[in-house]
Amino acid sequence: MRFDILTLFPAIFPGYLGQSLLKKGIDAGLIDVQLHDIRCWSRDKHHKVDDRPFGGGPGMILQVEPVVECVEAVQQIAQPHGMQPGHLVMLSPRGRTLNQQIVEELAAKPRLLLLCGRYEGFDERVFEILQPDEISIGDYVLNGGEVAAMTVIDAVIRLIPGVLGDEESSQHDSFSSSNLSSGNSSSGNRLLEFPQYSRPREFRGHEVPEVLVSGNHEQIARWRREQSYLQTRKRRLDLLNGSRNQTTADNSDNADSNQ
Ligand code: ADE
Repeated sequence: MRFDILTLFPAIFPGYLGQSLLKKGIDAGLIDVQLHDIRCWSRDKHHKVDDRPFGGGPGMILQVEPVVECVEAVQQIAQPHGMQPGHLVMLSPRGRTLNQQIVEELAAKPRLLLLCGRYEGFDERVFEILQPDEISIGDYVLNGGEVAAMTVIDAVIRLIPGVLGDEESSQHDSFSSSNLSSGNSSSGNRLLEFPQYSRPREFRGHEVPEVLVSGNHEQIARWRREQSYLQTRKRRLDLLNGSRNQTTADNSDNADSNQ
């Protein structure tokens, strides 16, 4: 899978790209990440890419020309190698909020362009012209889209076959479509992961549940399914209700009255 990251701060990424699963995936040829500095498409001799908003107001916004021209050029770069234009994602606090279902959707694409903003945002014509898939990683404002782009990459690469050591391990991830209570990914009934234990079997009086050391795989599977359900009911009742509002068993009265 190929990722093209379009940013004003490419130097933020190499540390992250050189570590752990991502590095292994890159070394194995499963992942290709290319960085593009939006400033290279500036029309200004000082490589300026931002300007004051018309109508006044605080801060600077990213200008339409360098951003649109950068995206168009990057879309064309890979085409001589037989690669189609990528799915354009813009990291933005006003986008649809990232969840595992969206991660699965993105992981099915062969190529993603991740457009990172800075300052007070983009000239609105960037949206009108490019019509990107705007994605937010949560209801808070970051200093730019770079950390959000890393979040998207981090979640997506777990789903690329061969990137995780154990082929199955992302299937048990919390929220995974393989971890559904109803078998229907569109219902939103995605569960949290069951609890895991390793050695020692006892620490400070806390013991590993007997069933996990019983060797009975059927019972272990049943216990894990039950635990997934109980953990979800206790911590994220909204996932069972298919509701978008985060609720726990502790504030479930509100959740019930919202249905
Ligand atoms: N850029 C600034 N805030 C962001 C957010 N919450 N998600 C994605 N990109 C952002």
